[in-house]
Amino acid sequence: MNKQESSKVQLSGVVKKFGDNTVLHGIDLDIKAGSLTTLLGPSGCGKTTILRLIAGLELPTSGKVILGDEDVSILSASQRDVAMVFQSYALFPHMTVGQNVGYGLKMQGVAKDLRTQRVKDALDSVGLDGFQKRFIDQMSGGQQQRVAVARALILQPKVMLFDEPLSNLDSKLRRQMREDIRRLQQDLGVTSVYVTHDQDEALAVSDDVVVMKDGEIAQQGTPKELYLQPNSKFVATFMGDANIVEGKVVATGEHSQLSIDSITVKTDKPMPAEYMDKTIEIAIRPEALSLTATDNSVAGLPVTILTKAYIGAAIEYSVQWHTQELFLVSATGNQEFNIGDDAKVFITPPGIAPIFT
Ligand SMILES: Nc1ncnc2c1ncn2[C@@H]1O[C@H](COP(=O)(O)OP(=O)(O)OP(=O)(O)O)[C@@H](O)[C@H]1O
Ligand SMILES: [Mg+2]
Repeated sequence: MNKQESSKVQLSGVVKKFGDNTVLHGIDLDIKAGSLTTLLGPSGCGKTTILRLIAGLELPTSGKVILGDEDVSILSASQRDVAMVFQSYALFPHMTVGQNVGYGLKMQGVAKDLRTQRVKDALDSVGLDGFQKRFIDQMSGGQQQRVAVARALILQPKVMLFDEPLSNLDSKLRRQMREDIRRLQQDLGVTSVYVTHDQDEALAVSDDVVVMKDGEIAQQGTPKELYLQPNSKFVATFMGDANIVEGKVVATGEHSQLSIDSITVKTDKPMPAEYMDKTIEIAIRPEALSLTATDNSVAGLPVTILTKAYIGAAIEYSVQWHTQELFLVSATGNQEFNIGDDAKVFITPPGIAPIFT
């Protein structure tokens, strides 16, 4: 299939109420043309509602939805160039694969010959050309998922929406499918908004991630920005594992530094001058912490090993530091420690994010 024209998507001040229940509290969201942007957040935070508003399956209570340069806020779904892939696939079980994929074109009155060719192209792009005559219930879960993607693609939408498209698949297939969807999305350059519960999936496939909480956007950024520079405890702990510790700001500006217990660490995130000498929370990723022997001269936090677990390429430790437990991951091959050992923990950037607002 050819690379198509893609559109940016913008939500501006979008409020959505169901009766008295406000589920979106003024969402401002910019989704770049041709990007894959993931919405991530706890159940009930409003992810599906945002997709449905973009698709035109719901209308905003107030605020605007803009596709490309067009304000589509009050247009119906059929008036928008948007296609959605659902978690349940929503395929027609009594139709063949070819009929399912070609259904949208038939409704548009596209002639049979052209339809046959476009069904072939769409199925080819998901690796299923030749399956046209099979019935849906003769296809595996992963194949049904591909049929659902082909059915959305064939309409050459300006925007594709995916609502937890892989959650019915086992973890190995999920990994493969997410890579396939990402490759297809990049080949076609189609703007895509992708909803998932799975942080690894979000980090792996996205240009941008939007973390939501209670009908609001907690933070938007690249996967790396969100992982390394979360702006809140919520985002830090929602995007992977984080140790939350207290520390004092001892240098601000471009070369910010924090002191934690007896050690001083640099941070990549510039801090405003008014934070000087303040005690703040700091999110530290497990891989930014390393263990060393107590007689090593390196400055470190005094700890005792609590638990140790092999996970193949690495060893996970939890350690007691004063009244707090820390979690860290050490590559196999590093010096090993046993439960009950005293040790020192030192901290290496990146992966150290001061949390301030
Ligand atoms: N048609 C509706 N009528 C009333 N309330 C609704 C409707 N659709 C959604 N809601 C409510 O809006 C809130 C957000 O729902 P939404 O489906 O967007 O959440 P979500 O983030 O997709 O959650 P999940 O991860 O569980 O799919 C929920 O509290 C839900 O109960
Ligand atoms: Mg949902």
